[in-house]
This record gives sequence, C-alpha cells and structure tokens, in this order.
Amino acid sequence: QTPDPLILALPKVELHLHIEGILSPALKWKFATCNNIQLRHPSTNRVFASLSEYSDSHDPMKFHSKTSGSGDTMNNSEETLSFFEAYYGGFEVLKTKQDYYDLGMHYFHRAAEMNVRYCELFFDPQGHTKTGVSWEIMMGGFREAQEEAERELNVRSSWIMCFLRDSPPEEAMAHYLAALPYRDMIVGIGLDSYEVDRPPSLFAEVFARARADGFKITAHCDVGSCYPLSHIHSVVTELGMDRLDHGLNAAASPETIASIKARGGDAGAEFGLTICPWSYIRHQPLDDVFRHIRTLFDAGIKMAISCDDPAFMEDTWIVENLFVVKRYCGFTDEEMVRLARDAVGICWAPGDVKEGIL
Ligand code: ADE
Ligand code: ZN
Repeated sequence: QTPDPLILALPKVELHLHIEGILSPALKWKFATCNNIQLRHPSTNRVFASLSEYSDSHDPMKFHSKTSGSGDTMNNSEETLSFFEAYYGGFEVLKTKQDYYDLGMHYFHRAAEMNVRYCELFFDPQGHTKTGVSWEIMMGGFREAQEEAERELNVRSSWIMCFLRDSPPEEAMAHYLAALPYRDMIVGIGLDSYEVDRPPSLFAEVFARARADGFKITAHCDVGSCYPLSHIHSVVTELGMDRLDHGLNAAASPETIASIKARGGDAGAEFGLTICPWSYIRHQPLDDVFRHIRTLFDAGIKMAISCDDPAFMEDTWIVENLFVVKRYCGFTDEEMVRLARDAVGICWAPGDVKEGIL
C-alpha cells in the first residue's frame, strides 16, 4: 500500500485492468476447490516462481514467449510456464455464474477502497468459451456484480471485450456477434494476448464492424524492442482507434508522438493511452520506463495510469502504479491532479458520469 495521501484521496478511473488478471493463486485455489477442479498446474507456487524468474531477466521475449520452458508436458508441475500460459491456463477454475459474480465483486471491493469511481474492465471471452463456459454464465455473473457495485459501492463500470490476437480473426468475429445480446454492458472492443507477428490490422474487418455498430475500439501495443512502431501507427492512424493500450514505445519517436497529438477527441472523449508501469518494469529498465512516461506527459499526451494484471505483478493496483509514477517521474501534486483529470478526459463514460467524478 502507498502511504501517499494525495494518491489515496484522488478520485480515480481505471481503464486498463483485465478482470482475469486479479486471479491470484489464493483466489484460483478458492474457485478450484469450490468447483472440485484439480488444477492442471498443481503447484501454483511453481507457476509464480517461474513468473518472477522471467521478471528478473529483462527480456520481454522470454517473459512472453509461448515456447519457453523445459518442453515438458502440461502435467509436469516442474514445468516453466510463460506469462500467457499461466494466465490463460488459470481461466479453467471459473465455471459458474457465481464465480463470475465473485470475481467481479472481488475487484469492485478493492476499487471502492482505492476511490476508483469508474472503470472499464477488459475481459477475454475466447478464453472462457474455450473452457466450455456459456455467455449467459459469464455475462450474467459480471452483470450482477456490476449492478451491485454501482448500487452499493458507488463504483460505476463498463466492459471492454478483447479479442485474442493470436487466435484467428474469424474466431474474433464469431465472438463479436455472440456478444451483441450483451451490448448494453460493453462500451468498447480491444485486442490483447501474444503480440509478436500479430499486428492490429489483421483484425481490421471486425474492428470496422464494431465501430460502425457504435463501440469504441482500442488495442494493446506492448512495450519493448520486439514490438514495432508499425503496430502503434496502425492503431493511431490507419485503423483510427479511440485509444492505445500501453504504446509507450511511442515516446522514443517524435513522429509517433506527433501522430498521437494530431488525434482530436471525439465528442466527449479525448484520445489517450493507458499506461501500466508495474507491467513494464518487470521486463524493461526502470529509467527508460519513467523517462518515456515523462516524455509523453510533457508532450501533452493524455494517459490513464492503470494496473493491467495485479495478481501477476506483485499485487500492485492503481494506487501502487500512481505511486511509482509520482516518485520516479518526479511529478508534483499538481501534475498528479492533471494525470487524474486526463484519465477522466479519455474515459468512455457518459458525460454526466464524467462530470461527477472530479
Ligand atoms: N492479457 C492479459 N494481460 C495481458 C497483457 N499484459 N498483455 C497482453 N495481453 C494480456
Ligand atoms: Zn493489458
């Protein structure tokens, strides 16, 4: 926990949190026990030990690579898992509507404690339908949690449905169509998972359809030398998306910064980036990360500081991410207030909700 009183007191919007990324080993264990599931990776300690080995390596390819590890079978508890294997493998513990409700409420209670007043939460339906969960169970549980959080905790929310970019675009389209009955819960469509050789333009058709149907669109562009600026260019310019998730590589390119600045705001929402510092410092040099955040901030680019996958990042949430930004970018209290206002500026909440936050 951060002791910084300003950071604790600021009304916050969280725009980059994967709901499945709060599945800590303890929470996974709880769901697995309730559902009588033998975890495929029985030694959760081993999973998380392997994650910290990667985090020490400063090598994003090693951290994210799907082919890392000893090559042993999935049943070997001594196997070393990549981030995505550990992450998506964990979905197997969620089975019932109650599980999805509990998962949502687990986050909403944390959010209320941190004075998060509005959030847009990513979820990956393909990871859930693969394990045999129906849309009714998944969305039904999320909906109950969302309504209770608004009613009882004063935390408003909406959902951003992400496509797995390492799965085929046809599968993304099928999931898009299946989500339409739940469109009142979903404000935007995003793109996540393993990015290498999977540019956002592969999904141009489904994103164009989503935009035409009135959804906001966004995509992850991860941080590090193996992720090309062309992915950012595609999001910002070619596909004209409404937001860029991560995108910190832009800071090293004046042309890319200029292209982001050239993006005007649509009615009520400015173009901006979601930035998750704890996620980057696991595999990028600390100095580069905070120098780049400062560069974007000083260039006038709007950012929402967020937490990505807290259970996989040493239990760090939005307050811890704001804290490291304040400390290592050297932001003043006034600059922290600007950051908080910028996050409200780029969120996709209705105007009256935005006005009620700050
Ligand atoms: N899905 C969940 N967490 C992710 C991350 N950090 N990067 C890409 N896709 C993700
Ligand atoms: Zn993310």
